[in-house]
Amino acid sequence: MSTIRSNKTASDIAVPAARPSYFSWFDRLRVRLQRLQHHERPAVHPPAQRRANDNQPLVGDLRALLREFNVERRGQDSSPEVWTPEKLRTLLHEQLAGDEVLVVSNREPYIHVETPHGIEIQRPASGLVTAVEPVMRACSGTWIAHGGGSADEATVDDEDRIQVPPGQPSYTLRRVWLSPEEEQGYYYGFSNEGLWPLCHIAHVRPVFRSTDWEQYVAVNQRFADAVVAEAHTDNPVVLVQDYHFALLPQMVRELLPKATIITFWHIPWPNPESFGICPWREELLEGLLGSTILGFHTSFHCKNFLETVDRYLEARIEHEASTVSYGGALTQVETYPISIAWPDANDTPNVLLCRAEVRQELSLPPDHLLGIGVDRLDYTKGIIERFQAMEKMFELHPALIGRFTLLQIAALSRSSLDEYQNFEARVRALAARINERFATEDYQPIILRTHHHDAAQLNRYYRAADICVVTSLHDGMNLVAKEFIAARDDERGVLVLSQFTGAARELPEALIVNPYHVEHSADALYRALTMPDAEQRERMRSMRSRVKNFNIYRWAGRMLRDAAELRKRERIMSKIRHHSHAPLRRVI
Ligand code: G6P
Repeated sequence: MSTIRSNKTASDIAVPAARPSYFSWFDRLRVRLQRLQHHERPAVHPPAQRRANDNQPLVGDLRALLREFNVERRGQDSSPEVWTPEKLRTLLHEQLAGDEVLVVSNREPYIHVETPHGIEIQRPASGLVTAVEPVMRACSGTWIAHGGGSADEATVDDEDRIQVPPGQPSYTLRRVWLSPEEEQGYYYGFSNEGLWPLCHIAHVRPVFRSTDWEQYVAVNQRFADAVVAEAHTDNPVVLVQDYHFALLPQMVRELLPKATIITFWHIPWPNPESFGICPWREELLEGLLGSTILGFHTSFHCKNFLETVDRYLEARIEHEASTVSYGGALTQVETYPISIAWPDANDTPNVLLCRAEVRQELSLPPDHLLGIGVDRLDYTKGIIERFQAMEKMFELHPALIGRFTLLQIAALSRSSLDEYQNFEARVRALAARINERFATEDYQPIILRTHHHDAAQLNRYYRAADICVVTSLHDGMNLVAKEFIAARDDERGVLVLSQFTGAARELPEALIVNPYHVEHSADALYRALTMPDAEQRERMRSMRSRVKNFNIYRWAGRMLRDAAELRKRERIMSKIRHHSHAPLRRVI
């Protein structure tokens, strides 16, 4: 069993009254197992004797249970197994047979919008949607999300449901409607003016208002009620997505105590001092600790979370096992680096054709060097720093003026917030200034597009580009980096990647930059644009094999397999509970 390590002294660790649950259970279990393994009988004493005899049929299960405890969880991460949609389906079929899977997120995977040409379907610019949608296609189940499109209401049935993907339905989308006040307080206010800047180090001050908090609580409760309404059983697997729903795990736990709740936090988790700014920090932590498993992209975010809990809650933390015991229940805090679905080789247009067509579309000569940036227009993405690096590169290497263009796709996002409007104005002004400085009659160094681009269009640009530039000031993972790699089956192209993304930990073959250091990024851009083919191939090949292997099905598969193991354990525990009357609520 792991040891407990904490910054606090023993006297600082206040243990909740219900604390003995897991630990005394584990000790009892271990003693019992040792006795069973050595064919010993407990001290002769009628009630204990009866319990030991009753437990005999559990010997096999108990041994398996102990083996599971001894498994080095993180060891599974490096396994060479290849995860596919089929393997995910098999896992669901074999290990979670008959179990329901419900996903909860704010952003929906398909948005129906009214246009002058009728109703159109849009896919939002969201890393969360990019990642979770292929998983839902493989799992079926129900995805509960905010219906925010202008034609969303017109396209659902009487129960606010619609089968998706359009044309190939494989799961249910259940839309939840929000009033303008709810959306303002819960989404724009608390989530995006409060939690978003709180969790990203981008030097934007978080704003916390009591009125926003009230809406955040109310909307979390509305979604928790929707989970209960959609669940057909009392123990579904609920996959809670992101910072919009920090309170929901505990709310669902209260309504469906037997549910397996897996929460994934898609953005960074800050250090305890930063998180402490939030006036409702304890409530958020308690809400998240309603989860059976709480996932982050990197072990650094897990560590920050555990330290934050240690600072603000009277919880017991086991650092080695990465668990938090709070209020008599345990939460496993685990690293699950998110990824993408590996594209089907048959679906991809020819690279040479893409290069030629895209250059023609952008009115560029056939051999023109092209860079691509794809982001939401968000102050965390380092778009200003990217443009500054490009300007510096032109100053240092004027031969590239007229030879290189950056196509920056910056999808408009959260535009009703002042911070985003100001940021958009700054981005536009800087692009205009740089363009003015270096443009000629038929040349413009930055092409800035803020309208919606679908996945097929982005794929063409990725394949046509010489370099892809990701300069986030802070980013949970950044899936654009992985999409670019997945798109390059020609093994060409260079990725310039910020050291402050989760992706940088998995992709050291990229040219890693500190976006705050403009000269350094300028050098990296130049190096990327002049990198020999052989070096490009070597780096790209290595990154491709990693992203292909560590794909989104592995992300989901590992979480679901962990959930399946916990459910198995829970079933064994209920048997033991039944015999020993132990007051356990939830165990890991
Ligand atoms: C980030 C968040 C997601 C969010 C996405 C797009 O990736 O982690 O939860 O969906 O940004 O932002 P939006 O506010 O448009 O949903």
